[in-house]
Amino acid sequence: MAAEKPYRFLYPMRVVLITSKYGDRENVMAAAWCFPVSMEPPLFAVSVSRKRFSHELISKGRAFAINLVDAKIREKAVAAGRSSGKDRDKFAELSIAREYGKLGMPLVKDSPASIECKLVKEIELGDHVLFVGGAVNIIERRKAKGLYHAGGDDFVEI
Ligand SMILES: Cc1cc2nc3c(=O)[nH]c(=O)nc-3n(C[C@H](O)[C@H](O)[C@H](O)COP(=O)(O)O)c2cc1C
Repeated sequence: MAAEKPYRFLYPMRVVLITSKYGDRENVMAAAWCFPVSMEPPLFAVSVSRKRFSHELISKGRAFAINLVDAKIREKAVAAGRSSGKDRDKFAELSIAREYGKLGMPLVKDSPASIECKLVKEIELGDHVLFVGGAVNIIERRKAKGLYHAGGDDFVEI
């Protein structure tokens, strides 16, 4: 396992839902490669494969939002990581309720917390692109345990 997928040495990693928007298209995808990169100013990074529809929307829309995942929205979050929104509206299909943030980004209403970020840097790295965003709006809705991806179909709540 480790030799084939060396990134798995760092697992488990927290699962979030990344929301994005460009023009009249809005999307949501699961991401485990998402982490803080600066305290002051508060900056967050998410590594997104160029194959994802989310890559196109974040790159063109210049913003993204990080939505934490807990047990309440676990199934929807995993499903949002197993199908692409390129030809479908995953919010509608998976019944993921939306609300809108200060930047007009779609946020996951049932998420414990959402962080709306303005894109400050886009770094091409191998088969992924690291999007770095400055937090402009943080909404904490409830305290909750996080969902962590341990690889494949394995998840743990901590
Ligand atoms: C638990 C989990 C974590 C994931 N983490 C990432 C990630 O960090 N980066 C990424 O590019 N794709 C990740 N994916 C895959 C995308 O969520 C998946 O390809 C999704 O269908 C992309 O949707 P989109 O095409 O609508 O953007 C993950 C999937 C799952 C199930």
